[in-house]
Amino acid sequence: MGDILVIGSMNVDMTIRVKELPKTGETILARNLSFGLGGKGANQAMAAARLGGKVRMLGCVGDDDFGKKHAQALREAGVDVSDIKTDRAISTGSAFICVEENGGNCIVVSQGANLSCDEDYIKSKREVIRSAGIVLVQMEIPQKALYRAILDARAARGKVILNPAPAPEHIPDEIYRGLDYLTPNETELMKLCGMEGEFSGGTWDGQAIQEGARRLLEKGVGTVIVTLGEKGCGVFRKGHAAWFPAKQVRAVDTTAAGDCFNAALAVALAEGRTEQEAVEFAICASSIAVTRAGAQESLPSRREVEAREGTLPFRAMAQRF
Ligand code: RIB
Repeated sequence: MGDILVIGSMNVDMTIRVKELPKTGETILARNLSFGLGGKGANQAMAAARLGGKVRMLGCVGDDDFGKKHAQALREAGVDVSDIKTDRAISTGSAFICVEENGGNCIVVSQGANLSCDEDYIKSKREVIRSAGIVLVQMEIPQKALYRAILDARAARGKVILNPAPAPEHIPDEIYRGLDYLTPNETELMKLCGMEGEFSGGTWDGQAIQEGARRLLEKGVGTVIVTLGEKGCGVFRKGHAAWFPAKQVRAVDTTAAGDCFNAALAVALAEGRTEQEAVEFAICASSIAVTRAGAQESLPSRREVEAREGTLPFRAMAQRF
């Protein structure tokens, strides 16, 4: 299936580790602040390259040190960064990340130069988009640009994977119809299909997840993969549902675990693996990422994932859907 094109955000991550995430109105103390390269787009491009994919990236940075570091790190990992845009008028995007003891996190992104990844820029890269085998996108760049990219990729028969993070209230039906894969987590799934009120976040509810996936399939998505953290993931296609267990590990930091999952899925599909094999590969990769701190620092190599693949007796539970 060929090359993977990642289109998305590039941030500098500022992370603090705390015992528990603060509640509204609360002040809490943390020991230290660490800086790293992040952004869902850059993380996915980096992860896909480490996992052996042939990767190109579209995204925007500011004319600052972080922007330069991004380009250098991705280039060293083997990502083609020749189309990344530098905007001299605005600084590289940034993310403020709080990680609690059990590895859970909350993130606020200040978009910065990611806003320059706009429709005009995407239009100027039409041929790059049309020539990609797989286009992998998330939602930290302007929506109009993102939707333009999806429609262009679709018209050229590239496979499209949308990781809807952060999830918007609404995605146009025309865009849903252009997606081969949609990969929300539980919270994103509930937001996308308007079921937030019916779902108490954090409490696993298989029925609600199936109902949410069904609503998205009805809109024309090819396959919905709902990532469920330590509970694995659910894969839904018309007439078919399968639940994949996760590898049980001690989570240190879940930042970029979803990015790692999506990148691994793209790499395995690009290699022509079956959907089941691709999901298993993605679970293995992300189960390594959660055991390490940071975003890009946590992303595993191909060799590490292959070693873990051998240790996993996958017993996906399939059912009619
Ligand atoms: O998915 C993790 C990423 O989300 C972080 O690296 C942060 O930059 C935000 O984009």
